[in-house]
Amino acid sequence: MSVSTANTDFDHSLSERVRIVNDTLDRLVAQQKEIPMDLRKALDYTLSSPGKRIRSALVLWCCELVAGRDNADARVAAAAIEMVHTYSLIHDDLPAMDDDDLRRGRPTCHKVFDEATAILAGDGLLTLAFEVLAKGVNDPKLAVGLVRELAQAAGPAGMIAGQIADLKAENTAGTIEALEYIHINKTAKMFRCATLMGALCGGADARQLEALGQYGLKIGLGFQIADDILDVSASSEQLGKTAGKDVAAAKCTYPAVVGMEKAGELARVLAHEAVTALESFGDGADILRHLALALLDRNR
Ligand code: IPE
Ligand code: IPE
Ligand code: MG
Ligand code: MG
Ligand code: MG
Repeated sequence: MSVSTANTDFDHSLSERVRIVNDTLDRLVAQQKEIPMDLRKALDYTLSSPGKRIRSALVLWCCELVAGRDNADARVAAAAIEMVHTYSLIHDDLPAMDDDDLRRGRPTCHKVFDEATAILAGDGLLTLAFEVLAKGVNDPKLAVGLVRELAQAAGPAGMIAGQIADLKAENTAGTIEALEYIHINKTAKMFRCATLMGALCGGADARQLEALGQYGLKIGLGFQIADDILDVSASSEQLGKTAGKDVAAAKCTYPAVVGMEKAGELARVLAHEAVTALESFGDGADILRHLALALLDRNR
């Protein structure tokens, strides 16, 4: 991630996890021998483009925090959440939704292929995520727990609720309550899901799950506020997606409702609350503490 962290340990840790996630994704998709060629091309195109892999890295880090190291289940869970996240971006960019031409520094899936193929590539990734959890996680109780978390976070009372509220809020004045609802649902619940999936894979107890879930929700809300801020302040080249789209589409965002300064302040408060949620963990949580603060300075 090109966050200016000035911390080589953190950068090294993240790039190592990005490598693990990419390798796992490659392996899991390669195992699917019967995907038709056109669909495989569209699905590979977006999945292999340079995303930051924050949610999937969080799965691995949270497993490591709880268990001392990551494991095969956490790698599958990390790939599964990345598949769901990538599907959400393909659909988010469609003409019927945010109508975006650029994603992860490349033309969007529906621009390179066609709209129907992009819809189906998204559908394919969403479904595959649950197949890899069902097949790739050995302990049935853990597999069900992971499926439940991912389905709840991504489903109609989670990300989809947030996405529909986001679209309905276009061209409305917007309130802080409406914004919080949108951002928690469309983004923060997936971050909480990432921390919970990692913790479950590491065998976390109830107290650890509660603390890591709180941390995930806080950084997730902060992440979406930062996304709104960057849409105003960064360039399309930096972001790898079209800047200035939120104002153009009259989106209900934190900068639009509370202004840039207050939005930045809120993101900072959330980062500190996230760090506070980690109080019961020792030095092992330093990477997560660093991430919470690094996400404030990210430039993509
Ligand atoms: C973009 O997420 C969608 C939001 C929730 C803001 P990311 O900024 O994590 O996108 P990638 O995966 O790095 O492309
Ligand atoms: C999207 O939020 C959140 C998702 C669930 C995909 P945005 O619409 O702000 O994300 P970007 O800016 O297009 O990445
Ligand atoms: Mg959107
Ligand atoms: Mg969008
Ligand atoms: Mg955005």
